[in-house]
Amino acid sequence: MRRLFSNIRVYEHVGGLYDATLGFWSREVRRKAAGALDLEPGQSLLIAGVGTGMELPYLPRDVRGVGVDLSRGMLERAHRRRVELGMSGLSLGIMDARALAFPDGSGDEAAHVTGQVEAGVPSGAGFDAIYLPLIVTVVPDGSRVLAEAARVTRPGGRVVIADRFWPEDKRRPAPVRAMSWALGHFAMRFDHRFSEIQAGAPHLVIEDYQRVSPGGFFHLITLRKSYVASTYDGSTQSESQGI
Ligand SMILES: C[S@@+](CC[C@H](N)C(=O)[O-])C[C@H]1O[C@@H](n2cnc3c(N)ncnc32)[C@H](O)[C@@H]1O
Repeated sequence: MRRLFSNIRVYEHVGGLYDATLGFWSREVRRKAAGALDLEPGQSLLIAGVGTGMELPYLPRDVRGVGVDLSRGMLERAHRRRVELGMSGLSLGIMDARALAFPDGSGDEAAHVTGQVEAGVPSGAGFDAIYLPLIVTVVPDGSRVLAEAARVTRPGGRVVIADRFWPEDKRRPAPVRAMSWALGHFAMRFDHRFSEIQAGAPHLVIEDYQRVSPGGFFHLITLRKSYVASTYDGSTQSESQGI
């Protein structure tokens, strides 16, 4: 079902309220997600849908990379946080997570970067890690966001998702779907199954899937970009894709 208007307009104006309401109870998932990114010194990171940058305090101060978002209002707060934390290796900019202006993580050194954000971007080899905090259920086509993340990750690189998904084995009654569709206009949907999101990125293999407090509300998923195509249940197909 299509949306009637974009929730970006809402995010544009709610940065302060957003931090005040979500900050406290999302601390644990942000802390664990930073650990799952497993960044080694010098490795590159892309945060897609960085928002107000609430994930920044949990990342290494010398992190090198890029945070992108479509909302200028959210990014202004992220910029203030980045300065306060002294994270000069992280650049921020406006970019659609469904159409990232970065080259494929193919190792092709000839690939070049286009778009407004260029500092902190690896030279065509792809990002070492991608972080998708509360974005794939916010964007109408979240599987497209994951597919783009997979495209710009280097082979062997990690994608970490912190979000909330509908249980795979539970029915979605019509009223639930209708409520989720309505909420999607203002914030995010809650009726997406992760298998639907992952369908866009078959060469990302799930390494870890855990529920995080409060009460297992958040889902923290660590994926790795393989050199071989794979299906959702983790089994690999025979032919090499040479991604
Ligand atoms: C729920 S907030 C999450 C913000 C932050 N990652 C966090 O965890 O607090 C969703 C963010 O996604 C951004 N967003 C929505 N659609 C987007 C898109 N297509 N590309 C990039 N960012 C987008 C919104 O502007 C908003 O900042």
